[in-house]
Amino acid sequence: MASFPSLLESISDLSRTHIDTLLSRAKHFKDNPQLSPLHATPKPIIATSFLENSTRTKHSFAVAIRRLGGLYLDFNAETSSLKKGESLEETFLTLFYQGINLCVYRSSVSHQLSQFRSNLPIKLINGGDGVNEHPTQALLDLFTLQELVPHLMGTTLSIFGDIIHSRVAHSLMKLLPQFGISIILSGPTEYLPNELELPAGVKICKDRNEAILQSDFLYLLRIQKERHAGKPNDHFLNYLEKYGVSLELLKNLNKTIPVLHPGPANIGTELDGKLIRSSLYKGYLQVENSIPMRMAIIEAMLLNNDQNIGKIDGEQF
Ligand code: NCD
Repeated sequence: MASFPSLLESISDLSRTHIDTLLSRAKHFKDNPQLSPLHATPKPIIATSFLENSTRTKHSFAVAIRRLGGLYLDFNAETSSLKKGESLEETFLTLFYQGINLCVYRSSVSHQLSQFRSNLPIKLINGGDGVNEHPTQALLDLFTLQELVPHLMGTTLSIFGDIIHSRVAHSLMKLLPQFGISIILSGPTEYLPNELELPAGVKICKDRNEAILQSDFLYLLRIQKERHAGKPNDHFLNYLEKYGVSLELLKNLNKTIPVLHPGPANIGTELDGKLIRSSLYKGYLQVENSIPMRMAIIEAMLLNNDQNIGKIDGEQF
């Protein structure tokens, strides 16, 4: 197997073998909570650097790092020299030469980490970049789906809501079809991608109820207002009735199937309070599963033996 990449920006950075290994390692960590496999001395130090708000992703990385036996450092970009005009590359090189082994980075700029593809200043995991991708969320979602239904081949998952601004949806569209899961996209027309540009295994169904009827799992998204770049986004009257999912709707359609959500959930918009408190809602299972999956991802990257990190590539004297 090709060694695990030192930059995880997109699901496309991983081979099927990498993904299968992560899934089984995550299961091993979940089944054996006493494991703390990073015995190296000095202990690896892993930083998170989040330039956008986060509750789940950042804390789940922090917990995963501690559970692995690594040291966690919360790099506060707001009070760093990034605010004094320092480039991201200089910042990452500084972290690397301070002995930080890996950095999880989140920002509102799509594809920002691509610039480091040929010369990595530090090992990097994308914790969500603009509207582009959120690969670790999609991986923990796949891990959760596999736990719910061990044979995923031939199943269908419908993603509802603000698809075009969802980095989670973009990563799911690259990941799930590799496992034989078909994806249906449904939501307000303004939030749906161009049908002609959809990857294999993904289709659009504008009729929400029809999409639910064809599904084995539902995946709900909030309206991601901060990514709308000034476009009006509060013009949806009765969003829940028209585009959201309530427990009553699922009962009426006789489709009491698992409902996933990456969080944060907006109760009263994309789902109702009864659904989020029902056993159909798997958002808390996703949160729980985020720890073993992120442990698996961090461990794989730390152990990949890549010697080409932090190289200073200018003229040598
Ligand atoms: C998502 C994100 O930040 O992209 N949340 C998450 O990481 N769990 C989804 C969102 O912001 O709506």
